[in-house]
Amino acid sequence: MTGTGHASLRIDTDAGSILCDPWVNPAYFASWFPFPDNSLLDWEALGDCDYLYVSHLHRDHFDAEHLKRFVSKKATVLLPEFPTSEMRDELEALGFTKFLETKSDHVHELDGGLKIMIQALTSPTDGPIGDSSLWVEHNGIRVLNQNDARPTDLTTYAALGQVHVHLLQFSGAIWYPMVYDLPQAAKTAFGKQKRDRQFDRTFRYIDDLKASHVVPIAGPPCFLDDELWQFNDIFGDEGNIFPDQWVFQQEYAKHGGTNSTVLLPGSVMTVTPDSVSTVHPTDVEEFFAHKREHLEEMRSRKRPIIEAAKASWRHPEVDVLKEMKRRIEPLLDESVYLAKGVGGPVRFDLVGYDGTSVESIVVDFPGKQVRQYADEKVRYRFRTERALIEHLLFIEEVDWVNSLFLSCRFTATRIGQYNEFVYSFFKCLSEERLQYAEGWFAEQKPDAEDIKLGDWIVQRRCPHLKADLTRFGIVDGNTLTCQLHGWKFDLPSGRCLTSVGHELRSRPAAASGSADGASGSADGASVDGAPAELS
Ligand code: FES
Repeated sequence: MTGTGHASLRIDTDAGSILCDPWVNPAYFASWFPFPDNSLLDWEALGDCDYLYVSHLHRDHFDAEHLKRFVSKKATVLLPEFPTSEMRDELEALGFTKFLETKSDHVHELDGGLKIMIQALTSPTDGPIGDSSLWVEHNGIRVLNQNDARPTDLTTYAALGQVHVHLLQFSGAIWYPMVYDLPQAAKTAFGKQKRDRQFDRTFRYIDDLKASHVVPIAGPPCFLDDELWQFNDIFGDEGNIFPDQWVFQQEYAKHGGTNSTVLLPGSVMTVTPDSVSTVHPTDVEEFFAHKREHLEEMRSRKRPIIEAAKASWRHPEVDVLKEMKRRIEPLLDESVYLAKGVGGPVRFDLVGYDGTSVESIVVDFPGKQVRQYADEKVRYRFRTERALIEHLLFIEEVDWVNSLFLSCRFTATRIGQYNEFVYSFFKCLSEERLQYAEGWFAEQKPDAEDIKLGDWIVQRRCPHLKADLTRFGIVDGNTLTCQLHGWKFDLPSGRCLTSVGHELRSRPAAASGSADGASGSADGASVDGAPAELS
């Protein structure tokens, strides 16, 4: 296996090669770059592969420009079973013609005895309508590229035999809490809580699968634009949500982990049934010891790319209010669950080219309208450059999460809790996506099974995305935390403390008399009622 940066790797076997998630060009309005830099790898050679696997359509996994230029069109695409055809459509538009449409959780045998299985996650909050993991087996050696997917458990993979290498995400990939207008102390506290939770979740997955070896992948990105430079984890800020692979190694060692390896771009890991050996292009510890210098060097080298991107965003001819009305109002009309879930107006403050003038537009979910702001209370308020919205409208972007929000080029305030429906709606600005998301929410049924956690009887599956709370639930006093995404629930009332809706069925165990299922641990020290954002 060759590390090729961020979530990308190339797996070579006697029965063929698989290139996964090659990402080189900056993503999300030139905010995210792969770190360490992978742009100088021999991509002509790496792209000459038998199979291509793209886990999902987030732009740090799906780099259209790079796929078009460097990846062989003779490669067979291993397609996750997603609910919409977007990924296939996008890849066909880039020139790919050979597709293997996999069935989720089904082992496919390819030529030469190469076996693969792709598990597709398909809730509207998984990636941009879908995320996935790839399991590969050849000659009795098994690799799980979990990537940044969050399956509720890993039992399907464990049942297929001992996994030799488990690659998974461990760092942040979201805008929270940095973009929120919060006092610095609160930002630090929330960031620290999130950073700890990311590690906890990673350790939980590692402990569940018990693979022989672990490789931290899929981030973090680096931020090379001066406006975003502060997001890099080089300032000793314990609230920074982007710890790097080397920090992971140290945290994992504190957790007792001794079997992890960091892959730099160009590192080659050779895996046999009983051993793993890795050759790196440079000393890894030394490399991360000079992280700031590497970032500074990249910053000056990539500056022209950022400047060129910025110059392409302005489209003064776009009438933003009129276009937002045209694009969004028909979707508001059709939206039942998402509109109800948002439940209030969402305001966009657009800062003009002069850096001072501001136009305020409201997406009024209850009123099913897009209009000028009318001095009202709003649920969410976003402030960003007008040029970014012009660009989104100009290119008819259907997913503002996979563009604007992940760019971190905005600030936000909100009244009340985090509301996942806001972001779900703005990633569904197409008929196909909106219909899928609405249908998904319509089909959600309450979970019937109960378990005992600490002194409480609660429903077994998390009301958020159905994680098994016997594994992910932690009770601390009157609060239950689900570690999969860190959502919290008030046990006496069942109220979700993290997002609107999502009530938990709960009652005290003593009063109920029944005590089946698992018992919980009480080690989840965290801030009750803290807002949280999906990552
Ligand atoms: S499944 Fe997301 S917090 Fe439980």
